[in-house]
Amino acid sequence: MVVPRVQAAIATAFGDEFRGTDPVIRPSQFADIQINAALALARKVGLPPRDAAARIVDALDLDGVCSLVEISGPGFINLTFDGTWIEELLNAPTAQAAGGDGHGPLHRVVVDYSSPNVAKEMHVGHLRTTVVGDSLVRVMEALGHTVIRQNHIGDWGTPFGMLIEHWLEVGEDSPEAALLVDDPSAFYQAARAKFDASTEEPDGFATRARLRVVALQGGDPETFAVWERLVAQSKRYFNAIYAMLGISLTDDHIAGESSYDAHLAQLCQELEERGIARISEGALCTFPAGFTGREGDPLPLIIRKSDGGYGYGTTDLATIRYRVRELQADRVLYVVGAPQNVHLRMVMATARDAGWLPDTVEATHVQIGNVLGEDGKILKSRAGNPVKLMALLQEAVDRARAVIDANRPELSDEERAVTARQVGIGAVKYADLSTGHDTEYVFDFDRMLALSGNTGPYVQYAAARIRSILRKAGALEQHEAAAGTAPAATIAVVEPAERALALHLLEYDATLRKVAELLEPHRLCAYLFELAQLFTSFYDQCPVLKAEDSVRESRLALCGLVLRRLSAGLDLLGIETPENM
Ligand code: ARG
Repeated sequence: MVVPRVQAAIATAFGDEFRGTDPVIRPSQFADIQINAALALARKVGLPPRDAAARIVDALDLDGVCSLVEISGPGFINLTFDGTWIEELLNAPTAQAAGGDGHGPLHRVVVDYSSPNVAKEMHVGHLRTTVVGDSLVRVMEALGHTVIRQNHIGDWGTPFGMLIEHWLEVGEDSPEAALLVDDPSAFYQAARAKFDASTEEPDGFATRARLRVVALQGGDPETFAVWERLVAQSKRYFNAIYAMLGISLTDDHIAGESSYDAHLAQLCQELEERGIARISEGALCTFPAGFTGREGDPLPLIIRKSDGGYGYGTTDLATIRYRVRELQADRVLYVVGAPQNVHLRMVMATARDAGWLPDTVEATHVQIGNVLGEDGKILKSRAGNPVKLMALLQEAVDRARAVIDANRPELSDEERAVTARQVGIGAVKYADLSTGHDTEYVFDFDRMLALSGNTGPYVQYAAARIRSILRKAGALEQHEAAAGTAPAATIAVVEPAERALALHLLEYDATLRKVAELLEPHRLCAYLFELAQLFTSFYDQCPVLKAEDSVRESRLALCGLVLRRLSAGLDLLGIETPENM
């Protein structure tokens, strides 16, 4: 809450060029928070650190906010907040973080995420781009930004010849065709096997598959219609996964590779005519500045292969141009696996050269780190095939079910089933979200389902526990009212544990804004984890149900506020809050 004020004070004291300084803020034994900004600044402005701190304090406008401001140690600034100020903010209707309220401009953001491939299993990498992307769009929408989801599915290219031929051969209503929904890899592999076995036959499957590609790309209506049905079948698989995961993507958000096909020839021609692309070894390429191969030679982005075909780079150039020109984005995010970083940066650089990506538009690759198996390699099944995502998710739910069956036998079968799904899926998603999105992590059911540590179940449990406390007090409905309303009773902040909890509650909006700015959902996980921990200390130290009169009312209201924050925060992560756990 004080960061903008500290930044303003720094600007007043040392000039506007220092406004962007990010003050490090941490809890302190001697005050509510300690600000460490003067030390780094002192070096830059050539003042002793304590003097730099004094200049900041002089310029700090903390009227009515702090009861005590002190300079300590080598130049830290210790702030103790005014109790009344804390209580006023806490008891105000929680103005749900809405951008445009003096917190910087609202954006029109295009987010490319999930983006699996037709007739292929979604792998754990797709799971993660899906989960992280969905959380980012939820947070940005909550902050008031306009978000346009784009699911760039791989639905085009040479394999579709063989896929269509196979689909026609087995029959669209056959069990083999149904594999596209239940086990897409098996479908793909069957088509591939037929292709590989027939490459020598003049009129064999492989030949027909090649002719089929030509027909598809040449716009043959019959072939196109078959292709559409095949893609529709694959969408059923994606949608089943999205439904299981509670992902906000629908068919309306699909803008696959095929949707750009009609524009690629013109796009290449334009780049060639303007001298941005040139022919190299038969292929049309761009050589954006700053990208070099091992020998220091300029690295090409191939946009038209020597056989005349277009590739992944071409369609991605088209995506940028479309998102800026047609969708009018001023922020374009690609939530895509880290290994595609060079590809995406080359595409962005070429788009900048072509003027399709003006400086006023931010384009960012939100890099998603690999998900590894226990052997430290990309997660695979025992047989070395991609892991079946649906089975993986089901296993998470089954494991959660075993725990809830053992712990809460008194709940109905239906209640336990609901909780198991919420906890199992929540655990998997939280594991994806709580690690920095660009770092790799090892997929480990035991760790993600643990009830202690920075896990989904830990945070969910804190919320479920508060529900049970409020239920015991007969006050659940009263306190669970929608976010955006004031607490159901006035909260008094008295005990240290109440104060720590209250101060953390007040950091929620700032946390969301950081998540959207830095595109880091793990900050929201860390926030919720700390909130759950602070609640536990509060509940250990401050009796709630046994307290009397206004103290009881106040503490119940504090519990209610924490519950609302936990479930609102989990919701922005795409995770449900169980009624019982
Ligand atoms: N379908 C691609 C894959 O599975 C991801 C596409 C990401 N989006 C993009 N615009 N390149 O790797």
